[in-house]
Amino acid sequence: MLVVKTIEELKDVVFRVKSNGKSVGLVPTMGALHDGHLSLMKRAKQENEVVVCSIFVNPVQFNNPEDLEKYPRDVEGDLKKIEPYVDVAFTPTAKEVFPEPPKEVYDFGQLDKVMEGAFRPGHFNGVGIIVKRLFDWTTPDKAYFGEKDFQQLAIIKRLVKDYGIKTQVVPCPIVREASGLAMSSRNQRLSVEDRMKAANIYRILTESLRLKDAPIQEIKDFVISEINKIDGFKLDYYEIVDDTTLQPVEFADLSTGIIGCIAVYVGEVRLIDNIRYK
Ligand code: PAF
Repeated sequence: MLVVKTIEELKDVVFRVKSNGKSVGLVPTMGALHDGHLSLMKRAKQENEVVVCSIFVNPVQFNNPEDLEKYPRDVEGDLKKIEPYVDVAFTPTAKEVFPEPPKEVYDFGQLDKVMEGAFRPGHFNGVGIIVKRLFDWTTPDKAYFGEKDFQQLAIIKRLVKDYGIKTQVVPCPIVREASGLAMSSRNQRLSVEDRMKAANIYRILTESLRLKDAPIQEIKDFVISEINKIDGFKLDYYEIVDDTTLQPVEFADLSTGIIGCIAVYVGEVRLIDNIRYK
């Protein structure tokens, strides 16, 4: 595995790979890698001749400075984990990626006006900035993103469409711990007790599936009241949305795909998850 730290090196190696007619798969990450990330890399390895993985904690997608500061980092450990699947690891500094403060402003329509976009102002513009730059530098044939960040996936698909980017965005299923908790780099920040408690998020979402033919409001009320019963949980939102527009749905038959998305603080750690009803 080649480890490159500069944009020039990255572009150069991609140029050589592509000149040899080889396909490139990109897995963008912010490091602190877990089995969820590794599932993206394994898939990328099956589907591409060369796999590029970026490890970069992108400061411009954090609306909360404390969250940025506490975001787990372990580049050395990450490089060991990805070695079997990745050909090129890109581990730039913030100065390398942002020699000047970035000025790009993206318009994602209504997609970023709800849920994460509403609770974390500027977050998706920051995601758009880094993902667009990574796509420009790597020109991947395919790029892999986890479905845990369901809204992010919709935003990236929109970015690709709006800018005529020739990359195929590949959504990959959520990987869960044995308890059902969705894997996340943030799980590392949970105490042992909170990590066990956090498994209730998926338990409650799964239990709500038995209501999937009930009125939407009834499903929402059930999830919200069950989450609120758990000591130490603080709900940011639970929304049941159309899986394409991400706008809240009132009646199940108005959408072809419906997904419930949740953000909840477990102690000081903010976790997200989702479940498909339709
Ligand atoms: O999902 C993430 O880890 C990040 O938002 C991404 C896509 C790597 C951009 O920084």
